[in-house]
Amino acid sequence: MLLKLNGKTYDLDLPPDMPLLWAIRETIGLTGTKYGCGIAQCGACTVHVDGKATRSCSMPLSAAAGRHITTIENVGATRAGTAAQAAWERLDVVQCGYCQSGQIMAATALLLANPKPTDSDIDAAMSGNICRCATYVRIRAAIHEAAKALA
Ligand code: FES
Ligand code: FES
Repeated sequence: MLLKLNGKTYDLDLPPDMPLLWAIRETIGLTGTKYGCGIAQCGACTVHVDGKATRSCSMPLSAAAGRHITTIENVGATRAGTAAQAAWERLDVVQCGYCQSGQIMAATALLLANPKPTDSDIDAAMSGNICRCATYVRIRAAIHEAAKALA
């Protein structure tokens, strides 16, 4: 099957029911996308599928084939992604870091859909992304800061 990932096309001979996350990390070797729960409950594995935040641990390759997948390694190709990454760095959002690529992918998908999110828009978009280090206040501030940079 053909997988379009970060602007490249990969011809993969893998089981169609394999989770997208496995192909990204183990076959393609991009390890910025993390494995947390494996059951779509934590958000660590979030990527963009056609620009929408998607849990790659729970999407089979058969559903991902032919669609445009973006991972944290290429999120900076969009203005929203660059703005989010810069805001994350400026506000020193990261603590242990494990959840943060998923957080940035979810935040960027939000900014792509809604360049001026309110606190409740942010809470709604980010509520499925768990942070054990409780960086939520800084994440919200960084999303507002990124939105300002995009205005
Ligand atoms: S690893 Fe996919 S949502 Fe937790
Ligand atoms: S920064 Fe540690 S889990 Fe989020």
